[in-house]
Amino acid sequence: TTTFRRMDHDRKIMMCLILAVVFSPVFGQTWEATVVKTIDALVGSCVVLPCTFNHPGSQLPSSRLRGIWHRKDDKNEMFYHEDETKIQDSFKDRTKLLGHLGQKNCTLEILQVKDHDNGPFCFRIELVEKDDNKPNSDKFSFVEQCAEIRMLHDAPKPKLRPLKTIVQGKPSTVTCSIRHTCASHWPEITWSRGSKDEINEVHRDINGGIWETESILVFIPEEKDDHTDLTCTAKFHGGKSSISTFTLNVKRTDNYNHIIIPIVAIAVTALIFGLLCVLMVKKYK
Ligand SMILES: *[C@@H]1O[C@H](CO)[C@@H](O)[C@H](O)[C@H]1NC(C)=O
Repeated sequence: TTTFRRMDHDRKIMMCLILAVVFSPVFGQTWEATVVKTIDALVGSCVVLPCTFNHPGSQLPSSRLRGIWHRKDDKNEMFYHEDETKIQDSFKDRTKLLGHLGQKNCTLEILQVKDHDNGPFCFRIELVEKDDNKPNSDKFSFVEQCAEIRMLHDAPKPKLRPLKTIVQGKPSTVTCSIRHTCASHWPEITWSRGSKDEINEVHRDINGGIWETESILVFIPEEKDDHTDLTCTAKFHGGKSSISTFTLNVKRTDNYNHIIIPIVAIAVTALIFGLLCVLMVKKYK
């Protein structure tokens, strides 16, 4: 009886293990999406809504997944669908799925942002059957994780720093930075001076769909630059732009040439005269 009981016990453990293996993908992963809840967008420009998701079961290739973006209260009001005809007229040709669904990335790009592009924008995933193109029963709308867009009507001004005094003849660094939410089309930063090799650009992912473009200008200020304006222009995708300006305050390096040169000249002239005098006197003696 002991051996029997032992076998029974082993079998139970085996069953548990099998059940765990069979169901772990289902229990281990659930329907989940991570979407930025609110994001600013410049009207007329573009915005990229970062999004990642998870679905139960094993990982599937992009071809077996269908990603849709729709309005929160009506899943038939679609902002994005692979079948263009299903998209709301006002969003046609303006939305694009930048993320690869096979990599569980549902990032959405919206171009030419309009004032009334208010969502909330919710992502929906459908697991597509292999053979026919009909979605099977596995689909999910992440209506608890939707993105809302806050419209900005005016382009934000770029930030200029430092605004301190700069010294004549010494390389000076000035940076101009602008934050934006369109990772697919960076804003362009231009300066009122400086050649290509004096300017460097850096792009940073700040968080939550916000990016920063920073332009660094290194130049050697001259005396004539004092009290002139240095401007930095940020031009956003779609055409809107904004400008920041500051007036250069160039500190002169101490320079006594304007005193030294005349003194030396006078001294040399006097010396030559003196020598001539001495020579003349000697000759006539
Ligand atoms: C998702 O895709 C976008 C667009 O290609 C990319 O910028 C982003 O880094 C991806 N996110 C993740 C978490 O891989």
